[in-house]
Amino acid sequence: MFPLPDERGRFGIYGGRYVPETLIPALDELTEAYRQFREDAPLQDELEHYLKTFVGRPSLLTFADNLTRHCGGARIYLKREDLNHTGAHKINNTIGQALLARKMGKRRVIAETGAGQHGVATATAAALFSLECVVYMGEEDVRRQALNVFRMKLLGAEVRTVKSGTRTLKDATNEAIRDWVTNVRTTFYIIGSVVGPHPYPMMVRDFQSVIGRETMEQLEQLEGRRVPEVVVACVGGGSNAIGMFAPYAYLPDGERPHLIGVEAAGHGLASGRHAASIAGGKRGVLHGALMYLLSDAEGQISPAHSLSAGLDYPGVGPEHSYFADNDLAEYVAIDDVQALQAFRHLSEIEGIIPALESAHAVAHAMALAPIMESQEVMVINLSGRGDKDVSEAMRIIELDAAGLPS
Ligand SMILES: Cc1ncc(COP(=O)(O)O)c(C=O)c1O
Repeated sequence: MFPLPDERGRFGIYGGRYVPETLIPALDELTEAYRQFREDAPLQDELEHYLKTFVGRPSLLTFADNLTRHCGGARIYLKREDLNHTGAHKINNTIGQALLARKMGKRRVIAETGAGQHGVATATAAALFSLECVVYMGEEDVRRQALNVFRMKLLGAEVRTVKSGTRTLKDATNEAIRDWVTNVRTTFYIIGSVVGPHPYPMMVRDFQSVIGRETMEQLEQLEGRRVPEVVVACVGGGSNAIGMFAPYAYLPDGERPHLIGVEAAGHGLASGRHAASIAGGKRGVLHGALMYLLSDAEGQISPAHSLSAGLDYPGVGPEHSYFADNDLAEYVAIDDVQALQAFRHLSEIEGIIPALESAHAVAHAMALAPIMESQEVMVINLSGRGDKDVSEAMRIIELDAAGLPS
């Protein structure tokens, strides 16, 4: 479907498999099962069926009339992944991987989660397909995303709190990998972003690329052309952005839109407290793949920081690393304050409360749109809805009985 990765699971130099010997047979088995899955027409029909009747696809492409007028430049569209069942893009991938797990005869699935969206999406798919489900989550994220923890439990999953390291997504991922190494015969590891050893970055990209494919068709209907001038998406591990970018990124030079990935600058790139792996990191190996990541002088992984739990990951998928090196996409960073402002702006102006992760994309888009021409088109991938974030946002902006601070 896409020209990369190569047969060794590489996007240029990035990706690959930096894992213990014992996992290689499991990754080979998975790669082969996924190859068959892709060519299995009835299984592909089944995937499409669930995306349509359970997830609610295609998700809308909404013309943001108010935001367009407010910004006074490009025509702005929102790809509404926030309207998916469970509230974010994550479910596109978990339905696919859960179907694959079932095909492979694995009755137990495990997952790691940061914002809790991937955990909820995994627990949901596990409930749908009657699979046992264990979700690993850092203690800090359990606190920030209490509502999602409860949702996972309601859906029948066991949530295991991880108290090591920074107690966020990186540490939860370490625990999930440990579980997989121990239980690999019976267990399918549902990775939530375009990270991990081959074939995960490819597989997650393929499942998420429905976002970009739909956008092309919808733009054709709405604007009479499939390619906008600009596409903006937030980047944590990178799955919603790759899902939107991939169908565009491999178009020939001159036909490709300006693809912009927005990382989390946290307290600011200069502060060292951020999650911008491309804008403020270097190359290294994390969770089985070569990618851009945050590390210290000794090469140890540095803690990431972002007010949005879903962007709080110290690495970025290998395909994004490749796009960045080869100028196929641009990567910028938006800090906590700017993201919070955009969170409020989109809510007030458009009547849509975005996830804090998606608010990073909105913030950059709102800065860029005014300097674009009025006939130009910009698409923002709205990766999720803000319901999970309202109590954390309320705490941060100190909403009191008197109302919002101005
Ligand atoms: C709504 C939302 N957007 C974005 C992300 C970031 O993940 P990714 O970069 O893989 O899309 C998350 C992660 O949990 C999320 O919940």
